[in-house]
Amino acid sequence: MGKITAAITGIAGYVPEYILTNEELGKMVDTSDEWIMTRIGIRERHILRERGLGTSYMAEKAVRKLINKTNTNVDDIDMVVWCGVTPDMPFPATANIVSDLVGIENAFGFDINAGCSSFLFALATVAKFIESGRYKKAILIGADKISTFVDYTDRATCPIFGDGAGAVLLEPNTEGYGVIDEILRTDGSGRKYLYQKAGGSSYPATMETVVNRQHFIYQEGQPVYKAAVSNMPDVSLKLMERHGLTTETIDWLVPHQANLRIIKAVGQHMGLSEEKVMVNIERYGNTTAATLPLCLWDFEHKLKKGDNLILTTFGAGFTWGAIYLKWAYEGKQQTERENEL
Ligand code: UT7
Repeated sequence: MGKITAAITGIAGYVPEYILTNEELGKMVDTSDEWIMTRIGIRERHILRERGLGTSYMAEKAVRKLINKTNTNVDDIDMVVWCGVTPDMPFPATANIVSDLVGIENAFGFDINAGCSSFLFALATVAKFIESGRYKKAILIGADKISTFVDYTDRATCPIFGDGAGAVLLEPNTEGYGVIDEILRTDGSGRKYLYQKAGGSSYPATMETVVNRQHFIYQEGQPVYKAAVSNMPDVSLKLMERHGLTTETIDWLVPHQANLRIIKAVGQHMGLSEEKVMVNIERYGNTTAATLPLCLWDFEHKLKKGDNLILTTFGAGFTWGAIYLKWAYEGKQQTERENEL
C-alpha cells in the first residue's frame, strides 16, 4: 500500500442571512463605501445577529450540508475538530457541541485556536491523524462569529470582519492526493498588535473591562499588514521550491481573506496571475478561521482532480504558514450534488 495522505473529499459552507453593507456601516461610524473598497476591498459581510446563537449554530449548518453532500454516515465519523477564535464558550470545546447537535457519537473532538491561521494549522494537524492510518473520516470546521468581538464604534476594525463557517471532510488517500506538505510559523512577539485583552484568565470579565471596551478586538493595522505581505509569500515560495512547483504548475493560491491589497500583493510576490488567486473577500469580509474553507467552497466547481493548491494565512499571534494540497476530486460534480439538496 502507498503512503497515506489526507485528502479533502468534500466541502460545505454557511453564512448567516443578515448582510451588513458598507452603506449601513457608514451610518454607524465615520466611513464610506469608497474608503472601505479602496483600502480593504470589502463590499458586504454576513452577521449572525440572533441573540443566543453562537459559532456552533453556523458550524452545525455547514457540517449538516457536508454530510448530506458527501453521503456520509454520521456513525462512521471518527474525529471532529473545530478551529477559530470564537468558541461558543471557553469550555467545553465547540467541536463537542457541534458533534452533539449533528448526532456524531463515535468520534473524539477538540478545538484549535491559531488566530486567522486556525484553519491552516488545524488542517495540518488533522492530516497527521489521517496519515497515521488510525482515523478514516475526520471533519474539520473553520467557523467564527467574530462580530461578537467587533467594536462597531471603531471605524478602523469594524469594516473588516464578517461571520461564517466552512467544513471539510478528510479521508485517507493512497494515490498522492491531499495534504502534501506544510510550513507553519509562530512569532509571539507580534501578539501586541492584534488581540482581545479581556475575557480570558489574565483579565476575566469585570465592570471595568466592559467599560474600558477590552472585550473587543484591538488591532494596529499597519504592522499586521506589513508582516502579512512579507510572511505569506515567503513560506509559500519556500514550499514551492521544496516541491519543484512553478507559477505554471500551481493551479490555485488560496490566501486568507483579510484585505484585498494584501491578497494582491501576495499573488504578485509569488508571480502568479490574478486568475489563479481565489478571492471572495468582497462578499464575506474577513471571517477569521472560515476564510479558507469558504474560498474552497465558492470555487469548488472550478477545482479539478490533481490541481496543485497553495493555501496560505496570516493572523493574530503572529501565526502564518502555507500548505501544499493536491485536490482529490472533480469539484463540479460535488457542487452539482450540493445544488440538488
Ligand atoms: O486577519 C488578521 C490579520 N489582519 C490583517 O491582515 C489586517 C492588516 N491591516 C490592514 O488590512 C490595514 O492596515 C487596515 C485595513 C486595518 C487599515 O488600512 P490602512 O491603509 O493601514 O489605514 P490606516 O490605519 O493607516 O489609516 C489611514 C487613514 C487614517 O486617517 P489619517 O490618520 O491618515 O487622517 C485613519 O484614521 O484612514 C483612516 N481610517 C478610515 N477612514 C475611513 C481608518 N479606518 C477608516 C475607515 N473609514 N473605516
